[in-house]
Parts: sequence; structure tokens; C-alpha cells
Amino acid sequence: MRFSGKAVLVTGVASGLGRAVAQALAVEGAQLALVDRAREPLDQLVSELQKNGCEVIHFVGDVAQEQTSKEAIGLALRQFGKLDILINNAGINPTGTISQTDPATWQHALDVNLKSAYLFCREAIPHMIEAGKGVIVNTASIAGQRASTGESVYGVSKAGLIMLTRTIARDYGARGIRANAICPGVLESVMADRLTRMSSDQVLARDQRFAPTVPLGRLGTYEEIAKSILFLASEDASYVNGAQLTVDGGLTA
Ligand SMILES: NC(=O)c1ccc[n+]([C@@H]2O[C@H](COP(=O)([O-])OP(=O)(O)OC[C@H]3O[C@@H](n4cnc5c(N)ncnc54)[C@H](O)[C@@H]3O)[C@@H](O)[C@H]2O)c1
Repeated sequence: MRFSGKAVLVTGVASGLGRAVAQALAVEGAQLALVDRAREPLDQLVSELQKNGCEVIHFVGDVAQEQTSKEAIGLALRQFGKLDILINNAGINPTGTISQTDPATWQHALDVNLKSAYLFCREAIPHMIEAGKGVIVNTASIAGQRASTGESVYGVSKAGLIMLTRTIARDYGARGIRANAICPGVLESVMADRLTRMSSDQVLARDQRFAPTVPLGRLGTYEEIAKSILFLASEDASYVNGAQLTVDGGLTA
């Protein structure tokens, strides 16, 4: 039980990867503070975890708002008396070249995918410094490491998130804080906001297009990425700081 007695805050848990991360952390004994804007699926996850004996609190809010970071971290500190691990996972996946992306969409993507992590880190770091230790994991993407066709602002936001992570690693390593980014490749499940813009045929075509291009011959699963996030969050990664852990089946090798 690598996370027994560890207080962990995870954002973007109502579906997909965040949900898989929360479930895996619960199995390994973590005390959880979960944040998402989607109330109903968040409530469902919380009851499922509580039934399995996990100590879990939750906060419904928009991670791009400073108030959410302050209130959610305040809640976690009141409940657990500390915050050992912060996992900034919430994200959206707007598509389009820069000509196809209007300024409001551009700004919203940067706010949700990048500013939110800055806000949560800014709120958590003073408490981690006081404790003399802390771990941050940010969910980036291979789209932040090399340009992906038609994913302009998404890629820019994830590249920014990688540099935010590295900046924190350099500035706060001496205070006992580790910060790392996870960079998933193409996963079996399309992100929820993008799925609303795709038909099932388009999803199938995407899977058939990408799978043969991956050296491992298939797309990744949320459970596989969650295992790598738990590695970075755990003491197993005690000397890993400022890294971008690419988990893409070799797609960008
Ligand atoms: N699915 C993929 O192929 C893939 C690949 C690489 C990276 N990622 C990254 O993994 C992370 C999770 O993606 P996913 O596939 O689970 O997507 P998802 O759409 O299933 O889950 C995203 C979660 O974030 C929440 N969220 C979105 N905007 C929010 C906001 N403003 N405030 C609070 N909560 C908000 C959503 O409600 C949802 O629960 C994202 O950061 C994404 O960029 C995903």
C-alpha cells in the first residue's frame, strides 16, 4: 500500500484518466480530495470509493478559477491536516489549426489546461514547503512535446504545462518538492469534450488510423497511464524530478 496515510488531491476525476487514477490510489490506501466540475459523476465516484472504505472528500468547481484552487486545497488541509501529493489532471481537448481557433477558445484552453495547474500548485506549494516535502504530477501529453496536426492550442497548453512542471522542479527541489509531467500518447478513449464533436464512425476511423502507427500496435488504456502516474507520485520515484514521462507505446520513439 504505497499511499497509505498520504493525502492526495486529484483534479478532473469525474471521467477517464482521473477516475482511473482516483480508483488506483484508493486501492493503495490514499486519503483523497477529488475536484471536478461535473457534479453527478463525481458524486457517483465518491460513493463508490466510500463503499470500498476510502476516506474521500470532494469539491465541485471549475479548476480554471482561483477560488476553486483556494477552496479545494483549504478543504483538503482541514480534512487531512496536510497535502502530500497534488495531481493536476483536468483538461479539455479543443481541436483546430490557429486559423480555426477563435481567441475565446484559445484563452479558455490555456485557462483550463495550464492556468489551473499554476493556480493549484501556487496554492499547494507553501504548505508543501512548510512540511518539507511534497509531490506534484501534471498530466501533459505527447502533443506538448511535438506538434500534432490540428491541435494547436491543445499542444501549446501542454507544452506550457511541461515547462511549468520543470520550473517547479528547479525552483522547489531544494525544499523537498518533486514535480513531474506525464505525457500520454493516443488512448483508447477519446477525451469527453472532443467526443461530443465526433460520431462513433469518426472514433473508429481514428482508432484504425493510429493503432498501426504505434510500435506496440495498439492504443493505450487509462489504467496503463494511471499506473505511470502512481509511479511518479510514489516514493518509487524519489529521485525523479522535472521529468516528462512519455507513455505512448513508442509512438514518438
Ligand atoms: N484521452 C487521451 O487520449 C489523452 C491523451 C493525452 C493526454 N490526455 C490528458 O489526460 C487528462 C485527462 O483526459 P481524459 O482522457 O480523462 O479526458 P476526460 O474528458 O474523460 O476527463 C477530463 C475530466 O476533467 C474535467 N474537467 C474538464 N474541464 C474542467 C474544468 N474547467 N474544471 C473542472 N474539471 C474539469 C471533466 O469534467 C472530466 O471529468 C487531460 O489533461 C488530457 O489532456 C488525454
